[in-house]
Amino acid sequence: MARITAGVATSHIPAVGAAIDLGKTGEDYWKPVFAGYEWTKAWEREQKPDVVILVYNDHASAFDMKVIPTFAIGCAEEFKPADEGWGPRPVPVVRGHPDLAWHIAQSCILDEFDMTIINEMDVDHGLTVPLSLVFGQPEQWPARIIPLAVNVVTYPPPTGNRCWALGEAIRRAVESFDEDLNVQVWGTGGMSHQLQGPRAGLINAEWDNCFLDRLEGDTDELRHIPHIEYLRETGSEGIEMVMWLIMRGALGPRTHTLHRHYHVPASNTAVGHIVLEPVE
Ligand SMILES: [Fe+2]
Repeated sequence: MARITAGVATSHIPAVGAAIDLGKTGEDYWKPVFAGYEWTKAWEREQKPDVVILVYNDHASAFDMKVIPTFAIGCAEEFKPADEGWGPRPVPVVRGHPDLAWHIAQSCILDEFDMTIINEMDVDHGLTVPLSLVFGQPEQWPARIIPLAVNVVTYPPPTGNRCWALGEAIRRAVESFDEDLNVQVWGTGGMSHQLQGPRAGLINAEWDNCFLDRLEGDTDELRHIPHIEYLRETGSEGIEMVMWLIMRGALGPRTHTLHRHYHVPASNTAVGHIVLEPVE
């Protein structure tokens, strides 16, 4: 049977992707950001996940005001890096896992989560920057990737509680897939940041670290944080953190932290990263 062996969460800041692509990771400004991912890179080389269910949000690359799916699952054979204005990132094409993706779509929909099924989609920095941070710059990504796009750009995004419950449904789906696969779930986005308005540049390190604290163990209090608290405490784009709760919900009732990293600044965003394993 397929099983979920670990969860990874990380910010997906576009400037981090640019730093990688332009060879700037050794610069003083960027060194402490990337240092926090060295442990994870080595760990992933041992873990060798077959599939990563990568929860992210699209930033008006694949979706725009014409189509705004709340939860969309990528069921295609492959997904090309999106052109976000400077040409596509020089990273490998993302290879999907259609059989597992369709199985998750079927299982979740029959489990009363109305997923949008996507068979053609380019993937932007929300998905490719986490891959670069965790897998480096390989010729080909070492795992199959199932993109799971969440609307956190246009109001209303899903609640944290709904995201957590979707994670639980994804776990049920994976565990009912009849193939021996090592599956990880990644949650991306965040941490605190606001890109516009009078509060642009807002960083709340205390709140961010409290959020990281509460991802571990058996508490599920994070699922009940209302949108207004994310907006007030972490800025308008901090709401991306609801996507981490899909990852957390997919790990089951109890987790243990394997690695954790927090750094400010990177661009105008706080960088947060955590690796969790489920505790049976
Ligand atoms: Fe984002």
